[in-house]
Amino acid sequence: MRDRLLPFFAWTLSTRRLHRLLFLPNSNRFLVALLRHFGARVGSGSRVYPPILLINAGKDFSNLSIGENVYLGHGATLDLKAPVTIGDDVTIASHITISTHVNVGNIPLQEHFPSRSERIRIHRNVYIGSNVVVLAGVSVGEGSVVGAGAVVVKDVDPGTVVAGVPARPIRKVDPSREP
Ligand SMILES: CC(C)(COP(=O)(O)OP(=O)(O)OC[C@H]1O[C@@H](n2cnc3c(N)ncnc32)[C@H](O)[C@@H]1OP(=O)(O)O)[C@@H](O)C(=O)NCCC(=O)NCCS
Repeated sequence: MRDRLLPFFAWTLSTRRLHRLLFLPNSNRFLVALLRHFGARVGSGSRVYPPILLINAGKDFSNLSIGENVYLGHGATLDLKAPVTIGDDVTIASHITISTHVNVGNIPLQEHFPSRSERIRIHRNVYIGSNVVVLAGVSVGEGSVVGAGAVVVKDVDPGTVVAGVPARPIRKVDPSREP
């Protein structure tokens, strides 16, 4: 039963209009409860805003782990082909895409770009601006900032502000020091 309901709920999470149509609560608490019910870990004090699109979730959402006091903004797309781990005290603005896999499809190009999937880690105390894309295998280090619109293609060192396409460091930040 649970397995059959999962695709339905993964779908309903993805549109606000459908929430209204089905009289589903549109609150972030409802989303958090639903994510937990289907196997995601969501720490206390965390807020997840609709719509959220979960793709390649498999049999449940156990590839998703969100720490405590996380804000996940509107319109996130999370590819759960591989684990996605978000640490405590993370703020993610709207429309992030977290893409844990590459699959060019069943076409000759696949010889040159074999399919792969890799975990994505966002460590604690990180801020990510709106419309950011994070690619497979990337780790965003503790205390880092990712500027709006960045495409993060490789690891971000702790305490670094990155921006641009591809994301490059623009300065260092020491969260333990007074501004
Ligand atoms: C990255 C950010 C946090 C600012 O960091 P900062 O260290 O204060 O950076 P500065 O504003 O001093 O800019 C430093 C350089 O990076 C560039 N830069 C800043 N943000 C950038 C971005 N998102 N993309 C590309 N370049 C950017 C600036 O143009 C500047 O370049 P220059 O030195 O050639 O003039 C901010 O620009 C940003 O992207 N905020 C996200 C806002 C957002 O998404 N809000 C949604 C609601 S929460």
